[in-house]
Amino acid sequence: MPDTRTIKTVPNTTALYRAAADEFRRCAHESIHERGRFCVALSGGSSPRGVYSLLANDQSNPHTQLPWGKVFIFFGDERHVPPNHPDSNYRMASESLLSKVPVPPQNVFRVFAELDANEAAQKYEDQLRSFFGLRLNDCPRFDLIMLGLGPDGHTASLFPDSKALDENVRLVVANWVEKFQQYRITFTFPVLNHAAEVMFLVAGGDKAQILKDVLNPETSQFPAQKVLPENGKLLWLLDQDAASLL
Ligand code: 6PG
Repeated sequence: MPDTRTIKTVPNTTALYRAAADEFRRCAHESIHERGRFCVALSGGSSPRGVYSLLANDQSNPHTQLPWGKVFIFFGDERHVPPNHPDSNYRMASESLLSKVPVPPQNVFRVFAELDANEAAQKYEDQLRSFFGLRLNDCPRFDLIMLGLGPDGHTASLFPDSKALDENVRLVVANWVEKFQQYRITFTFPVLNHAAEVMFLVAGGDKAQILKDVLNPETSQFPAQKVLPENGKLLWLLDQDAASLL
């Protein structure tokens, strides 16, 4: 179980993005102070774009700048598209953040999603193992993994009724998503649950019902409910609309 589960609700999306950016920076400073680097996995979709833009803007203020040379950027999941595709999580993060801060290119580890899906997943797992210096049965420990919540209770690209839900050995897999008729490349639960901190970002009234269901301790059928860092923090950052049924 997580060391701590915190649910924080803020009035609106602007406040949500600010809270998420502040937590990102807090975690970064703490990790760099304690370990000399900050290893973070970004989430995709639309919610985080506002957070990434704030982090980029914060760079112009000496009081909120980050030492990006000590920040190492990964992606919790990626669509099976080239990096310049409109659906690419890498493209979204690049446009909103990575192209606007002095993070060295060699510190950014994108998924080579232009390749065959299984090949892309294997290459990404190999990159994780190499970067973190992992032995065969080791799992990387990210300082922060950002996640979103889909309307069906998925997170990363761990969708209901998909094969990746049962993967407990591989770190990264290609996951066929029937409803999209598409592969996604995604971290598996072992990676998510080995993180020092997982931060869910949930905004908007359309997420209110699924959020209520996912936070209900009586149920356990949704993938997002299986994100329980064994030795880490679990933070749910919500705006008022998303939290309206709690
Ligand atoms: C993705 C994400 C996915 C996302 C949720 C929420 O690649 O789309 O990894 O898990 O976080 O679907 O997406 P929104 O933030 O767009 O609601």
